Amino acid sequence: MEELEKVKNQIREFVSVCNHQKSLELLEKLATGKMLRSKLILKIAGVSLESIKLCAIVEMIHAASLLHDDVIDEANTRRGQPSVNALYDNKTSIMFGDILYSRAFTELSQMDKNIAYTISNAVTLLSIGEMMDVDLTNTFNKSYDKYLDMIYKKTASLIEASAKAAAILSKKDENKYALYGKNLGLAFQMVDDILDITQDSKTLGKPAMLDFVEGKVTIPYLLLHERIENKTKLEALYKKELTNDESLWIKEQMTITKALEDSITLAKQIGNIAIDAVKDENDSETLIFIMKAMIEREF
Ligand code: FPP
Ligand code: MG
Repeated sequence: MEELEKVKNQIREFVSVCNHQKSLELLEKLATGKMLRSKLILKIAGVSLESIKLCAIVEMIHAASLLHDDVIDEANTRRGQPSVNALYDNKTSIMFGDILYSRAFTELSQMDKNIAYTISNAVTLLSIGEMMDVDLTNTFNKSYDKYLDMIYKKTASLIEASAKAAAILSKKDENKYALYGKNLGLAFQMVDDILDITQDSKTLGKPAMLDFVEGKVTIPYLLLHERIENKTKLEALYKKELTNDESLWIKEQMTITKALEDSITLAKQIGNIAIDAVKDENDSETLIFIMKAMIEREF
């Protein structure tokens, strides 16, 4: 996609301003992801100098948060490639995250006040969400509300802010687009949590069924725990390296109790709330397309 190349070039330009060769080198080491946030911004606001800048800012913030997250999660791979903390070390990952993050904020400070407020506020939310995520791995979380609040902050807040900022930029109804972005983000994270169970490690670019081992009680596990008879067995497997048989048992129980099926239904319902929010807008068809493509990432 031509316009995503423009975003990548803008990011390179923003980093070049630092006049620091190592930062440019590290930038090349980052595996580019789906650029969902940029696609969303460009669909809503169209391609212009300002919208490309906004995309670059959001992608740099997102990349910075992942550089920090991989240190926090002690992850060695990111999108199927070695992460910066694995290629270099934790210090480099944190410091490069800080460079990207502050460069993004310098550029953000030059944009419309309302956009700057929306994006910067979301970064506080995502930082709080990350802390909640880590804290929720201390004990087996059984609260759906806590899970939902955490994924809203950790994942949906920046997607919500991206959609809202793009609407502000193009003088559209910011509240409707924010609601769309929020629910798109929630559904996105739920789909991710489902894929952790249904996909193999090759497709995921990281070990499969890792969430539960890492202490993350995601939506399918929450439903499973509510419904399963042998709760003691499930709780005993929490935060444990799973054998093949144990993984299979969990998957089987997820099918029997319909925990997996109902998680998919829930993600789709949340997706429909997003679609409903923008159904009367003239770009609703593309927004529905984005949502469907995201939900149907193969369960
Ligand atoms: C990935 O979650 C993590 C996030 C989406 C947010 C991380 C946020 C911070 C570290 C706050 C700091 C922010 C800045 C801008 C420096 P995950 O671990 O569930 O997903 P993964 O499997 O992709 O790692
Ligand atoms: Mg992580």
